[in-house]
Amino acid sequence: MIIQSLFCLKGEKALITGGASGIGLSTAKLFASAGADIVIADKNLKGAIKAADEIKKMGVKSYAVELDVADAVSVEAMVNKAVSEFDTIDILVNSAGINIRVPAENLSEKDWDAVIDINLKGTFLCSQYIGRVMIKQKKGNIINLASMSGMIVNKDRTISAYTSSKGGVIMLTKSLAVEWAKHNIRVNALAPGYIITPINPWMNDPVICKPTLDLIPMQRFAEISEIAPSALFLASKASSYITGSVLTIDGGYTVF
Ligand SMILES: NC(=O)c1ccc[n+]([C@@H]2O[C@H](COP(=O)([O-])OP(=O)(O)OC[C@H]3O[C@@H](n4cnc5c(N)ncnc54)[C@H](O)[C@@H]3O)[C@@H](O)[C@H]2O)c1
Repeated sequence: MIIQSLFCLKGEKALITGGASGIGLSTAKLFASAGADIVIADKNLKGAIKAADEIKKMGVKSYAVELDVADAVSVEAMVNKAVSEFDTIDILVNSAGINIRVPAENLSEKDWDAVIDINLKGTFLCSQYIGRVMIKQKKGNIINLASMSGMIVNKDRTISAYTSSKGGVIMLTKSLAVEWAKHNIRVNALAPGYIITPINPWMNDPVICKPTLDLIPMQRFAEISEIAPSALFLASKASSYITGSVLTIDGGYTVF
């Protein structure tokens, strides 16, 4: 098989939650460059429309849909709209996510619920509703944005709801991989470390950055563009025998 066809997504329909920004947007653009048509589903409709407009200019079809991943009614409406536009959904990337940094003893129930509802329940709901479409079409590929924080506790960070949610995403990935393998659906996760995106405004402060950089063998944060290629690998034929896996992209942070 020639290298281009291994990574080609021509004719595939990909839906990216959280696709208006950061890793989701970068992944949407890389998938479009590999030939996929793209649905951008995001709470930020204005950002989603802007992203879809940029992607259309790359020569593929693209639509924006408003979505709150934490709300089953919104997820169902979004899936109905996506299917009415594209007929199928071959690839789902669950990238919508938030982080709230508060010491555990002060974390409010509201903030705990927000992180768990968006990061964990949202990943489940989108996978469930789109999984039903994939089961009918006997084909599908789901990629969840977990985090290295689902496997280890970040030094000097007070993000207990986030780490709990991402640990949950990892086990959800494995559970769905096992349940849906018989439907020809692969389910994998990416576990990035520290990435320079809007979710991490503290990275602009060199004093705060220094102790964290000292914990990363590669001594730098990742560029946003360094995550999407791994998503493309998992979405493509290049990973055809991989399911239930968690691919760590952390510059070596979790090795220590
Ligand atoms: N940036 C990092 O360092 C890092 C590291 C590991 C994992 N991750 C994970 O990667 C994913 C993407 O992160 P990012 O850095 O690109 O963040 P980002 O803030 O750039 O993008 C997140 C997107 O999710 C959308 N969103 C938030 N709540 C939503 C909701 N309820 N419904 C629908 N959309 C919603 C936002 O509007 C935004 O467009 C997240 O799940 C995050 O936890 C990020």
